[in-house]
Amino acid sequence: MSTSGKKARTSPRKRAEELRREIRRHDYLYYVENRPEISDEEYDDLFRELVELEKEHPELLTDDSPTQRVGAEPLDAFPTVQHTAPMLSLDSSREEADVRRFDERVRDGVGEGAEVRWVMEPKLDGASVELVYEDGILTRAATRGDGRKGERITENVRTIPAVPLRLREEDRTPPPMVAVRGEVLMRLGPFEALNEQLMQAGKEPFANPRNAAAGALRQLDPKVTASRPLDIFVYDILASEGLEGVDTQTEVRRALSAWGLRTPEFEVLAESADGIVAYHADLMACRDDLEYEIDGVVAKLDDLAARDRLGSTSRHPRWAYAFKFPPRKELTRVLKIVPSVGRTGVVTPVAMMRPVEIGGVTVSRASLHNIEQVHRLDVHEGDTVRVQRAGDVIPQVVEVVEKGSGKREKPFELPERCPSCGTELIRRGPYTVCPNSFECPAQLAGRLVHFGSRDALDIEGLGEETARLLVSEELVRELPDLFELEPGQLEALEGFAEKSATNLVDAIGKASKTELRRFLYGLGIPEVGTAVARDLAEHFRSFEKIRGASEEELEEVEGIGPKMTEGIRAFFQEPHNRHILDHLLDGRVTLIEPAAPAEGGRPLEGLTFVFTGGLERFSRSQAKELVEANGARATSSVSGETDYVVVGEDPGSKLDEARERGVNTLDEEGFLALLAERGVEG
Ligand code: IVH
Repeated sequence: MSTSGKKARTSPRKRAEELRREIRRHDYLYYVENRPEISDEEYDDLFRELVELEKEHPELLTDDSPTQRVGAEPLDAFPTVQHTAPMLSLDSSREEADVRRFDERVRDGVGEGAEVRWVMEPKLDGASVELVYEDGILTRAATRGDGRKGERITENVRTIPAVPLRLREEDRTPPPMVAVRGEVLMRLGPFEALNEQLMQAGKEPFANPRNAAAGALRQLDPKVTASRPLDIFVYDILASEGLEGVDTQTEVRRALSAWGLRTPEFEVLAESADGIVAYHADLMACRDDLEYEIDGVVAKLDDLAARDRLGSTSRHPRWAYAFKFPPRKELTRVLKIVPSVGRTGVVTPVAMMRPVEIGGVTVSRASLHNIEQVHRLDVHEGDTVRVQRAGDVIPQVVEVVEKGSGKREKPFELPERCPSCGTELIRRGPYTVCPNSFECPAQLAGRLVHFGSRDALDIEGLGEETARLLVSEELVRELPDLFELEPGQLEALEGFAEKSATNLVDAIGKASKTELRRFLYGLGIPEVGTAVARDLAEHFRSFEKIRGASEEELEEVEGIGPKMTEGIRAFFQEPHNRHILDHLLDGRVTLIEPAAPAEGGRPLEGLTFVFTGGLERFSRSQAKELVEANGARATSSVSGETDYVVVGEDPGSKLDEARERGVNTLDEEGFLALLAERGVEG
């Protein structure tokens, strides 16, 4: 069945509705459930078709259409709106004793015999918002403001992909009105990238992801907000009309999820203060591994009726408490500012500081990014500064809080010559760079560290200090030398003993057999991060092919643009790099290249399958893999695009759908026959 045939039979209105339903479902699967069913291209096709249809038939356009997220004109100011219910804040402390007292207070308050059950979530460090849905449609969004009134930022919130413009009704009908509360935030990766972009453009970076999120929400032009990578978690129902069957926080959460709103991760229940304390410790331990900032945990009473009995003060509820983490920001003194040369040759001013513990980690160095940042902060040796760290991110100097007593007339300047190799430095935009890429010892040490880093060859024990030592002792003059090291040579180095020397040599040996994507990433090719390295590896499946690829061939890889192509080509054409690569691949490194697709190319190219019910010869996922390996697509829902629904034992509703839509169905035998016909081995 062809799509065009389908379109001819379906009215444009029906098709528009169908597309919106599909797109909404895929948005939900992607942003909320984190398990997309279709590729980006397939999604784009659906989206494009809807855009076209709405252009042809403007009368069909609805405000909640997925195409209408961005589009509003810039505002002059945000109107003030009253919240549907006060947006209270949380009582909080960093002290365990306070948390235990809170637990006791609540137990006294709810009365003898009443059960106290805590629902615990991370305390998300973002910007609090209210979302109002009427008849399931997002009609208003507001900032918290003073808790009673906030700013109406509906147009901006609509641009956040994880915010549904219309609530799902598949599993639970949304009430006529529901106002929910959540936290808008920016993940650390996108936050770093945004700051980098702002600095490149000569603009002021954001001090932290929370400010970046709050700043993005307060842009008068929704297009600017749309360009900022915002995300949301929704954790509470503020007010509602006609909502039934929700008596506990657990049910609140279930309802929110059913409506397609993303709720906080890591929710845990506890029955005691000990439980809260343990949860706090657990989340604190994994705080640095999260992709977003959290600044504590929240414990909320599960029973909503008991909450009502306890009530609230003018500022916070008596039934919830935030047990906060130690701050990520601390004050310390800058002892010295020194230039540091990274693997790409960029010379960064680094503040060496009096060691200070920040959020559980001792910090004594912080990056000042570039010389413009040093001037912007007006930081001098001897100043007292506020230092912050977030996730894996390198600590940063946020501001000077007290000027040192020394002479301040002379601000720090980067040297004229490279502190590592003496080559004259050059300016590239806001950055200062050592152009001696191949012989500068500092750059080589940086390359070694990157080559051995976790996402690259993952060589345990090859840290910064060791790399510097290997280079300064001239045991490593280029990357390939790493694989020639012998324990005896290392043992002679300061800080090494027999065991640590053997361990490092073993680790290098183990890492020498590595996946193509890791190797590619480890080379430190300009613009090639882990994602691009993976895409290149999967597309070409061969290092030699990548190395020899033309610009056109490289641009065939999705997400690789002209700028990257240029960087990649230049890297592989550079004679020194070619020499090093030849050496590395001359028996020192063995690459594991992704397996080729099934023989005979892609005999099922262009077909879309849906599997339902149990098959005899394969599991459903094996069947899916098989057709995908041969160029077809396998989706989990029947749509206008489906060519065949393969029906096994006890099929689900997909069979009915297939019949309704007139899609071809195949039983297992028919499926095998189709495979045989196309020369695919089943
Ligand atoms: S519950 C009044 N849960 O923390 C009860 N708040 O002052 C409603 N926050 O601005 C709040 N994560 O926006 C709750 N999982 C979470 C939260 C959370 C972050 C924010 C909230 C408020 C601040 C506490």
